[in-house]
Amino acid sequence: MKYSAQDIENIIYNYLPEEEGYQKDVIIAMNYAFKAGGKRLRPMIMKLCYDMFSHTENLDVLAPFMAAIEMIHTYSLVHDDLPALDNDMYRRGQLTCHAKFGEDMAILAGDGLLNYAFEVASKAFLKCPGDVKIEKAFVSLARRPGIYGMIGGQVLDVCMSGKPLDDKQIDFINLNKTAALIMCSMEIGGLLGGANEEVYEQLGNIGRCVGLAFQVQDDILDIVGDEAKLGKPVRSDEKNAKYNYATVHGLEKAKEFVRSVSADANKILEDMDVVDNQAKKELMDLINMLINREY
Ligand code: IPE
Ligand code: IPE
Ligand code: MG
Ligand code: MG
Ligand code: MG
Repeated sequence: MKYSAQDIENIIYNYLPEEEGYQKDVIIAMNYAFKAGGKRLRPMIMKLCYDMFSHTENLDVLAPFMAAIEMIHTYSLVHDDLPALDNDMYRRGQLTCHAKFGEDMAILAGDGLLNYAFEVASKAFLKCPGDVKIEKAFVSLARRPGIYGMIGGQVLDVCMSGKPLDDKQIDFINLNKTAALIMCSMEIGGLLGGANEEVYEQLGNIGRCVGLAFQVQDDILDIVGDEAKLGKPVRSDEKNAKYNYATVHGLEKAKEFVRSVSADANKILEDMDVVDNQAKKELMDLINMLINREY
């Protein structure tokens, strides 16, 4: 692969806050959750989408957004694991933030990561004042994780706990709680790389397909995955009586869905004109790899 998780970490770790001051307890909890590992998929996708369209590399502008999307994703995990939501004790192979630091500090660490993400992303403005591309990227970063995106999906996920779901509800949950951040990563990477309006739309569509596939595979792994590889508990959905694509339609149909929407994503990508064909191939390989991922 063009980028390992380590390569991405080498970029995004530069933006973590120093563990100092009277508020350092929360910063320690934020960094604990952030540094725990994870696939770093969202900043990786953002970088590949940037590479596809960019003639030069301006990491000063891109890197703050890469760090910001991973901070927002990490906050979503910290809050998702809380007793009031999924009540899980392990994440990324270690105790969840609330299990380690207490619920109070985990709530604040989630808040801290979300807010700090915007503080970090705003550094890009100072590098290139008045750059419309950065403004548009900021709009995507503000909207996709919010009530019309990730939070919206989490709301229905929580409200429907214990209740059967129809296909429209499953689609809403997966599209919002998971695909929204992947769409955001693709949109921002493309925008900052210089993709035009039409391509920007297509990137969103690819992100939607990849995100849907990603959540259904996550639901499959919740049933048949290996806790040691996943770094988080299996059967969390069963514990919380959560219905999802895999529990409603069964494993075989779920696997078929993952393959089919991933193929849709690659079809759009295949026809896309890019500057860097190697980056495009890497992104297609990544999409194919995710179909059979075990963690
Ligand atoms: C987990 O995301 C939450 C979902 C959206 C399914 P990831 O599987 O990307 O988690 P990390 O970042 O690798 O830990
Ligand atoms: C949560 O979905 C997606 C988020 C917005 C965090 P899950 O609840 O299925 O994610 P995991 O399985 O805990 O990672
Ligand atoms: Mg959840
Ligand atoms: Mg969960
Ligand atoms: Mg899950």
